[in-house]
Amino acid sequence: MAGGPAYPVGYLDGTFVPAEHVRLPLLAPGVTYAASVFEGIRGYRMADTQGIALFRLGEHLERLVRSSEVLGLDEIPSVEEMEAATLGLMARNPVDEDCYIRIQVYVAGDGEMTARGPTGVAILARPRPQLTERLRQGVRCQVSSWRRIADNASPARAKAAANYLNGRLAGLQARADGYDTALLLTEAGDVSEAPGACLLIVRDGALIAPPVTADILESLTRDTVLACARQGGAVQEVIERTVDRTELYAASEVMLVGTGMEVTPVVGIDRFTVGDGYPGPVTRQLQDAYFAWVRGAATTPEGWLTPVEKQLEASE
Ligand SMILES: Cc1ncc(COP(=O)(O)O)c(C=O)c1O
Repeated sequence: MAGGPAYPVGYLDGTFVPAEHVRLPLLAPGVTYAASVFEGIRGYRMADTQGIALFRLGEHLERLVRSSEVLGLDEIPSVEEMEAATLGLMARNPVDEDCYIRIQVYVAGDGEMTARGPTGVAILARPRPQLTERLRQGVRCQVSSWRRIADNASPARAKAAANYLNGRLAGLQARADGYDTALLLTEAGDVSEAPGACLLIVRDGALIAPPVTADILESLTRDTVLACARQGGAVQEVIERTVDRTELYAASEVMLVGTGMEVTPVVGIDRFTVGDGYPGPVTRQLQDAYFAWVRGAATTPEGWLTPVEKQLEASE
């Protein structure tokens, strides 16, 4: 897994095993035909207790079930089963820092392209420090010549491995052209999202988000940041609507939001500077509000933080 070695204990099909044993079989449709869905979940060190809590675990697992349904998987593990597996894994590992959990649900066995099972579940976790430099300085994006996959071809709403070829192509192009990452437009030419994050813009005091019908992943971070904005005084209005390409260049601020990207300022798009070329005040305020929520420094909505500490005690 990119970014550092996994913690020593992993999970595979109902059993806790050494992390190096968590491998997917070559002949599985989950490998060859990408019949595979996943979630990436962050654990943060809490501001007060210094313990670790997982952010919006239940909702990530609900999305995993929905993604599995879209792909037609059989015997989809329940949210409760996956929650127990995830917390069991965290309890068995020496986790005392910010971390990241990857859960993959896939078609195992050696069936054909349309095989629905057997369903495999694999989980690994690893430390994941925040990329403070990038959060402070922001990133530069290229509007890709690759189009975002359409809902009636490869639905972005499902967090399916297959969808990431689209983001990979756009990301490779952006990197080759000297940018940090890409922004994708829909087939209709509207703004969709980045390869691994959703996008928000600020115009005339309003925070604007492309709608969930813009071939985006229905991001929990997008939902969290919109909730932060509705609660705080960073903007006058929060609007979900179609965003035109040229609004990217006209926006006073642009940010990428996602579990991995957190709330990352965008300071340049194509050859244009966003605002004055530095992260803007709304982005800064939303970053602060977001980090206060994920670290439990401000009161979050019920159920958004699942402490790992308690589970450690419970499993002893
Ligand atoms: C394509 C894509 N869009 C958006 C997001 C953000 O989703 P979330 O905030 O639920 O992590 C991700 C994952 O982080 C993603 O891979």
